[in-house]
Amino acid sequence: MISIIVPTYQEVKNLQPLSEMIHTALTQADESSYEIIIMDDNSQDGSIEKVTELQANHPIRIVTRTENRGLSPAVIDGFSEAKGDFVVVMDADLSHPAKAIPEMVNQLRHAKSDFVLGSRYVEGGSIDDSWTLWRYVNSVVATIPALPITRVKDPMSGFFAIRKADIPNSQNLSPIGYKIALEVMVKGDFPIVTEVPIHFVDRIHGESKLTLGEQLKYLRHLRRLYQYKFQTKAEFFQFAFVGASGFIVDLAFYLLLQMFGLSHTVARAISFWPAVTWNWMLNRTITFSHREKTKKTKQWGAFATSSLLGFTVNYGTYYTLTKYVPFFEEHMILALIIGVIMGMGFNFSISNLFIFKKLREEVDHEKQNEKH
Ligand code: GDD
Ligand code: MN
Repeated sequence: MISIIVPTYQEVKNLQPLSEMIHTALTQADESSYEIIIMDDNSQDGSIEKVTELQANHPIRIVTRTENRGLSPAVIDGFSEAKGDFVVVMDADLSHPAKAIPEMVNQLRHAKSDFVLGSRYVEGGSIDDSWTLWRYVNSVVATIPALPITRVKDPMSGFFAIRKADIPNSQNLSPIGYKIALEVMVKGDFPIVTEVPIHFVDRIHGESKLTLGEQLKYLRHLRRLYQYKFQTKAEFFQFAFVGASGFIVDLAFYLLLQMFGLSHTVARAISFWPAVTWNWMLNRTITFSHREKTKKTKQWGAFATSSLLGFTVNYGTYYTLTKYVPFFEEHMILALIIGVIMGMGFNFSISNLFIFKKLREEVDHEKQNEKH
């Protein structure tokens, strides 16, 4: 059986055409065993009555949700409602052509794919003529930052099919915003991911719920996925980025204080502190935002101490290399760079292990990954 999960919010006018589109597509392909599960966020627009009416001719039911509103959580709840071996997720507004479903399911059935995505940007796929250039650019630009975490051409698509057995554990799914396909794709275990071309049709009834707020959530969601996929590498990258911005703060204070008449040695000694504070603040709110919220004063003190030690490592490396290794006597700038890397490596390790402590969940998640 095929379970078709459809998240809805105020889609009453689309329910009948949607059911008919699915019916036509699936019966033509001899797929008579399916169920449509409408995951509705308490629209109160007559959707419940409409579904009851449609039940006379269609295998459709509606689940009304009253908590944790949103497209993605509605789909995740839908997963546990699904009875079929294959699960398809699609929009209610007729944007996603049901006639692609048989091909999507067949790929799963014949082990040609483990995750099938309905895609606008593969050969044969297309978007509605009514799409403005702005909307197109928006959609394409949004795809770019998702490239390192997935190889698909249309990671923004919300139309996909997987085997029920492959649905990731719902505790592991934590999408913020709209991109449920991306979330499932990254968190789950899908050796073969394929794309089936679709023609994306613009909705006729009702309006899109994709607001600017949702698009900003996408950035937060991406950061989470990077974190999930690259773990320490992602943290190190952010730590280095913060460090580079801290260097600018350091330099600014160093110059500013001298403008106020301080000597360069005193300015140098003081400018370290705003820079360290800046780094600590950003690492607490960005790099390690998912870590334990340790008391601020204590954590700042530990971070400043580690930074001082890190500087010692940095300087010590530079000093040793230039004094004892003839090569570096000639290439002092290289010694400086190596010093910076050693110092940052030291700082990062101490921060990662001791200053920004991991929460229980993260440790559990890592243990789980090791088992696989
Ligand atoms: N349950 C529930 N709760 N469903 C929702 C909610 C919500 O808060 N918000 C939207 N939906 C449903 C809509 O009713 C529709 O069936 C589907 O999710 C997609 O919402 P649209 O408002 O039509 O969004 P869109 O057309 O801008 O977005 C579509 O295209 C994007 C790519 O361009 C969706 O397919 C997205 O998943 C996709 O990323
Ligand atoms: Mn839509």
